[in-house]
Amino acid sequence: MPTIRLDKLLANRTPHSRSEVKQLLRQGAVQIDGVTERDGSRQIDPDAVQVTCCGKLLPGGAHIYLLLNKPLGVICATEDRRQQTVIDLLPPERRTKGLFPAGRLDADSTGMVLLTDDGDLAHRMLSPKHHVPKFYLIRLARPYEERYAAALADGLTLSDGTHCLPAEIAPLPDNSHALVCLHEGKYHQVRRMMAALGNHVENLHRTAIGELVMPVNLGLGEYLEIIHKDVENMLKEPQFWAVYERIMTNYSSYLINVSL
Ligand code: URA
Repeated sequence: MPTIRLDKLLANRTPHSRSEVKQLLRQGAVQIDGVTERDGSRQIDPDAVQVTCCGKLLPGGAHIYLLLNKPLGVICATEDRRQQTVIDLLPPERRTKGLFPAGRLDADSTGMVLLTDDGDLAHRMLSPKHHVPKFYLIRLARPYEERYAAALADGLTLSDGTHCLPAEIAPLPDNSHALVCLHEGKYHQVRRMMAALGNHVENLHRTAIGELVMPVNLGLGEYLEIIHKDVENMLKEPQFWAVYERIMTNYSSYLINVSL
């Protein structure tokens, strides 16, 4: 793992400001593996040592990665005067500085959002160069039609002339839900694609990014902390059918759990 300055780690991972951190270091309130450390410039590997501040253990890792199951009506922003944001959903002690949603999910969509303070990772995940696949479970107003798969595979053109990259879709056994995989993120893309095919998306839930599928027992509005290795899985390109199979093993509990 990369190293990070001790004072930077403390400022990222505790509610204290940089100047408070300096003072705490001077007062001897910070320990590394049980030994008091007063030098904030010391480079440490947060995965290899235990850091405590005011008697509290800091979670491991140089960065924070929280997997949130975003509920309806909440926006992917760090602050907003009118609407509840994904950051507002966290308990105060988890709203650490620099935390932001890596990517967008519309207010009227639910599901997987990564909250992190790791700008490099977010850049890799969002860059159009990388085409990180994102999987959406959707509920359709009208039954699924077989022609959809070929239309998406060819690269659909939306009503305003926008061309989409080839994408995948397959129905769930009830024919009113489907799993869609996109390799890009245009505005309201899934909804506009299904509209271009003459259908309508009633509900949309992001269920996987790359190889990382959201745990079925994570309820709407809940989050869990994941480690760097899991985050790396979000950058991988799984086979569509591998993710489909994994979702299918649990899909009825999944649909109930997320009100889809
Ligand atoms: N496509 C949509 O239409 N909405 C989202 O939130 C994500 C993908």
